[in-house]
Amino acid sequence: MDFKDSIRVIPDFPKEGISFKDITTLLKDGEAYRQAIDALKALVAHLEIDVIAGPEARGFVVGAPLAYAMGVGFVPIRKSGKLPYETIEVGYDLEYGKDTLAVHTDAIKPGQKVLIADDLLATGGTIATSVNLVEQLGGKVVGAAFLIELVELAGRNKLSGVEVLSLVNYED
Ligand code: PRP
Ligand code: MG
Repeated sequence: MDFKDSIRVIPDFPKEGISFKDITTLLKDGEAYRQAIDALKALVAHLEIDVIAGPEARGFVVGAPLAYAMGVGFVPIRKSGKLPYETIEVGYDLEYGKDTLAVHTDAIKPGQKVLIADDLLATGGTIATSVNLVEQLGGKVVGAAFLIELVELAGRNKLSGVEVLSLVNYED
């Protein structure tokens, strides 16, 4: 299956010059969604993974089904102010804007092998921040898996030492 057939591209959203990769068209297609998660599972099959962490919100719709399919736990990395227990937080720059991500201090045990999953790798800010949070808790990031990589934005350069795996690449 060519997953690009299931991903809708919206020009100039949310602002001019941004070519938005809309995964809602893939998510609502049960067969495409299942195949995408299965394909990601195959992509990361060579890694030893104790737990998957995914950043809110779109990281949940990739990371949680992948965790279920692999029989491992899922750790939500959330935007600031959402998690009820003690957290650590890190601020970061987005392709368009700024935000803060947080994780529960007891979400990951020191030494656990963590796969980070998200829908899209753009500038890499979200995932570099997620890596930072996981490493602050003593987790070892063994890989980062994405449905989509925007190659031109070179996000993988921010993730030195982390194996980056993506299902489909876009040049713009
Ligand atoms: C989007 C996308 C990735 C991130 C990629 O999330 O889901 O998480 O941007 O960009 P980056 O590589 O430049 O950091 P967004 O923050 O828009 O929020 P959402 O997942 O809650 O929609
Ligand atoms: Mg996101």
